[in-house]
Amino acid sequence: MKILHTLDALRAARAHAGRVVFVPTMGNLHDGHLSLMTDARSRGDTIAVSIFVNRLQFGPNEDFDRYPRTLAEDAEKLRSIGVDLLFAPDETELYPEPQNYVVEPPGIQHLLDGEFRPGHFRGVATVVLKLLNMVQPDVAIFGKKDYQQLMVLTAMVRQFALPITVVGGETVRAADGLALSSRNGYLSASERAVAPRLHRTLNEIVRIVQNGGAADQAALTALEQRATAELDGAGWKTDYIAIRRRVDLLPPEADEIAPGRLVVLAASRLGQTRLIDNLEI
Ligand code: PAF
Repeated sequence: MKILHTLDALRAARAHAGRVVFVPTMGNLHDGHLSLMTDARSRGDTIAVSIFVNRLQFGPNEDFDRYPRTLAEDAEKLRSIGVDLLFAPDETELYPEPQNYVVEPPGIQHLLDGEFRPGHFRGVATVVLKLLNMVQPDVAIFGKKDYQQLMVLTAMVRQFALPITVVGGETVRAADGLALSSRNGYLSASERAVAPRLHRTLNEIVRIVQNGGAADQAALTALEQRATAELDGAGWKTDYIAIRRRVDLLPPEADEIAPGRLVVLAASRLGQTRLIDNLEI
């Protein structure tokens, strides 16, 4: 595996890389990331991964400074699963001058996570457009765990006519249901023990909607509110639990409340740790 820290080295390697499948990450890799890379194998000649903790997508009071940076361990994992190329630029390489030109996603950036993390999706879209221009992949893979991010980026690639196929990779879960995330490492042992409750809550909502137990918007809202109250009653601080249509993450019309068209998304804090998760219905 080649480890490249500069754009010049990346461009030189890209010239001989054939069909490139790219998985952008912020590092601290877990099995959820690695499954995206395994998925990449059959889609091209070269698997390229980037590791870059992108300051632009963190709010002023978020965890940019303490976000785990584990490059040596990450490189070892990537090597062991056969990744070909690791691009790990430092901040001055990625942002040699202040990044004044930005990608401003449309209304979707203000919904759900965007409401609680203003500017987050602008920062994500901006760095991803830049990484895509640097790596010039044929395929880019993003996890469905960050469902809203996947939607923002899919639409960005489509609207800017980038010659790239975007693929959504399935969420990987621990045996008790907790979605794998680098931020799970922030949980204390007692928090980790109760963390799977978020997934159970979403599962229960999926079950009710699939069984026809919420047929209109008022019933969905009541379901969201009850689930939020239950979680918060157990000591969580919930930002949102929302049943939305997959196509644009807006509330569904009554005739859209049907399996195959909806997704339930949640963000909730356990102590200092903010967990997100979602399930397609
Ligand atoms: O999902 C992530 O890890 C990040 O948001 C991404 C896509 C690598 C952009 O920094």
